[in-house]
Amino acid sequence: MAQPANFKSPSRMGALGEDAPLSSTGSVSGGKSREEGLKGVDFERRSFLGKVVGGVGAAVAVSTLYPIVKYIIPPVKESTDVNELVVGKASEVPENSGKIFQFNKDKVLVINDNGALTACSAVCTHLGCLVRWEDKDNEIFCPCHGAKYTQTGEIISGPQPLPLAPFNVRIEGEDLIIAKA
Ligand code: FES
Repeated sequence: MAQPANFKSPSRMGALGEDAPLSSTGSVSGGKSREEGLKGVDFERRSFLGKVVGGVGAAVAVSTLYPIVKYIIPPVKESTDVNELVVGKASEVPENSGKIFQFNKDKVLVINDNGALTACSAVCTHLGCLVRWEDKDNEIFCPCHGAKYTQTGEIISGPQPLPLAPFNVRIEGEDLIIAKA
């Protein structure tokens, strides 16, 4: 059940000058003047509001600065690299085709040349375009500037400075597995 407000609490009355007799009009005629009491209440209210505003300001500042700090200071990266990984089904790379798979942070081109599987990085060593297997030419080709590589990633011709990094690949059951070379 709700309690009626205590308008005669000691602190409130003290602030208002309780001891002072009230005149018939309700004004304070002695002790603390009514105006002095009201100033005390007003000061308490301002102090409370100041704390509330300060708290809200601090919360806003923290919520604004937190994402900025998190952006500037990147999180410590946990290495989740694995030595080998089932990347898909063997049927995804039928004979005389190639397909790119994600392996750790690398993109790896798996080539099935008449049943012989090879794998190498799918990222051209020139400027980083993705290469593809050209079965009719029996070579890996980069469409950006025409780099050509052998099935195992060795340089045939083009502007690329390095061969493609090799990977191991094998089939177990129906699984296609890529492993670090
Ligand atoms: S990025 Fe491959 S040839 Fe330039």
